[in-house]
Amino acid sequence: MQQADKSPKKGVTTHFGYQDVPVEDKTRMVRGVFDSVASRYDLMNDLMSLGVHRLWKRHFIAISNIQPGQRVLDLAGGTGDIAALMSKRVGSNGSVVLSDINEAMLAVGRERMEDRGIVGNIEYSLANAEKLPFADAEFDAVTIAFGLRNVTDQQAALQEMFRVLKPGGRAMILEFSKVEFEGLKKVYDAYSFGILPRLGKLVTDDEDSYRYLAESIRKHPSQDDLADMMIEAGFSNVTYRNLTGGVVAIHSGHHG
Ligand SMILES: C[S@@+](CC[C@H](N)C(=O)[O-])C[C@H]1O[C@@H](n2cnc3c(N)ncnc32)[C@H](O)[C@@H]1O
Repeated sequence: MQQADKSPKKGVTTHFGYQDVPVEDKTRMVRGVFDSVASRYDLMNDLMSLGVHRLWKRHFIAISNIQPGQRVLDLAGGTGDIAALMSKRVGSNGSVVLSDINEAMLAVGRERMEDRGIVGNIEYSLANAEKLPFADAEFDAVTIAFGLRNVTDQQAALQEMFRVLKPGGRAMILEFSKVEFEGLKKVYDAYSFGILPRLGKLVTDDEDSYRYLAESIRKHPSQDDLADMMIEAGFSNVTYRNLTGGVVAIHSGHHG
């Protein structure tokens, strides 16, 4: 049987923030962003969100229904906030795979886990979410937090999440989304484009990466569009809930 050609198509473009870039260049450009910010990523998250990202992440895992003994995967897991929360929930009989495409981010994540004594039930995997090195039906739950927005072929990543889930398993996505109220949108835009890049310059000496952050959020599919993409990938019982007026949303879908 002839295999479909899944290599990036020459001449096709995609968005990198507000720029149109050749589709085959985006993954490398995103890698550049996270190579640049890796060492100060956690500090910047706390400063940018005044610590609120921790509450979003805690809530995300609190409602995940992840159980002791399960095997779970966190994609685009970066410096490991989600994997650390999962590690507590699955306990010593379970296992967590912390996965990311970026070596620098994963290295910071591994160091943080080891510093916090999270060692027994955690594995690391350098992997592109679009093409996962895991068997079909390997995981009880798969998560991706603030990662999907950066992936070039998001539909491929959703399909991979579906493939590696066991029947009955659950995928969850935590991501910036579309704010619900016009008043909040104005303040949020002023903050994102006025303050955020300056804060990035001050803390990481990298204004562009934080401008990319603000722009990539605006280019990300809306809550309803992402739910449709999950359904197209094969998920059932697809739902979402907004947090902080839609600044972020949590999507959930089941395998079977
Ligand atoms: C904003 S960080 C989120 C990190 C972490 N999940 C968190 O919530 O703090 C985005 C992460 O996505 C990763 N990433 C980008 N493209 C990816 C891809 N195609 N596959 C896997 N990870 C990817 C980046 O390397 C980066 O670590």
